[in-house]
Amino acid sequence: MVCTDELSKAKKRGEDVSQNSLTFWPDVAFRMILVVILVGATMWISAAVYPKGLGALADALNKAHYIPAPAWYFFGVYQMLKYFPGYLDVLAMVGLPLIFFAVLFALPWLDRNPSRKPRKRPVALSVAGVIMAGLVFLTYQGMASVPKALADNGVITHPSFKKDIEPVFQSQCLTCHGSTNSYALDNYTNVIKIDIIPGNSDGSKLIQKLEGTVKPQMPLGQEPLSPDQIKTIRNWIQDGAKNN
Ligand code: HEC
Repeated sequence: MVCTDELSKAKKRGEDVSQNSLTFWPDVAFRMILVVILVGATMWISAAVYPKGLGALADALNKAHYIPAPAWYFFGVYQMLKYFPGYLDVLAMVGLPLIFFAVLFALPWLDRNPSRKPRKRPVALSVAGVIMAGLVFLTYQGMASVPKALADNGVITHPSFKKDIEPVFQSQCLTCHGSTNSYALDNYTNVIKIDIIPGNSDGSKLIQKLEGTVKPQMPLGQEPLSPDQIKTIRNWIQDGAKNN
């Protein structure tokens, strides 16, 4: 096949180009339809032969410390959503992608430059470059902002309150011990109020409640923290229950 500029050159030279060309309808259209049918049938058959489940069932109590996160190719869109206030989220999720695809669709009419050489297409290439760079940036930012899964095995010898202890309270205790509760566990100042004796984890009420030596065992109505998590909290208290 010849590309447009060669075709027009050949026409100018007075050559009969119909010898070398195909009509879109029905020749090219028929081939396209054929490919669509083949790809569709292949996917349909593979889905029937190798069915793929949707993963583990949802766990309302989040006992597996599951961290919900979008599939990687949606990180960019979700990241963009964070830059918009709530009432504008339709704009970010629907409006901008719609404009993007509308422009992409209209490209053959918008861009009448017949040349295929990259050097002769600075505008198109820089716009595409900026969009690609933006996508990579947003995807990277989105990936970096997914919270890390909480360690529920592996004892941390010298834990940090911010990094190792607070996230456990945040995920397991705040539903009941929020900031308005009399035993609030939402920040360091409130946590050390609950009868923690620095250097004496056995004597600290927090440990007694977590291990269940003083009933009822915490977290109330859920599975207890893992022995490793409790040991990590013990180590933090032995270290002086510091705000580190
Ligand atoms: C479903 C609600 C619920 C959850 C979740 C929960 N607690 Fe409690 N917690 C309570 C209630 C209710 C009490 C008071 C009952 C009692 O101590 O007899 C309490 C009491 C406590 C006490 C004793 C306070 C005192 O001074 O007597 C501690 C310590 C405690 N919780 C720690 C935790 C920790 C740590 C977690 C998370 C690992 C947690 N709780 C999760 C409901 C909850």
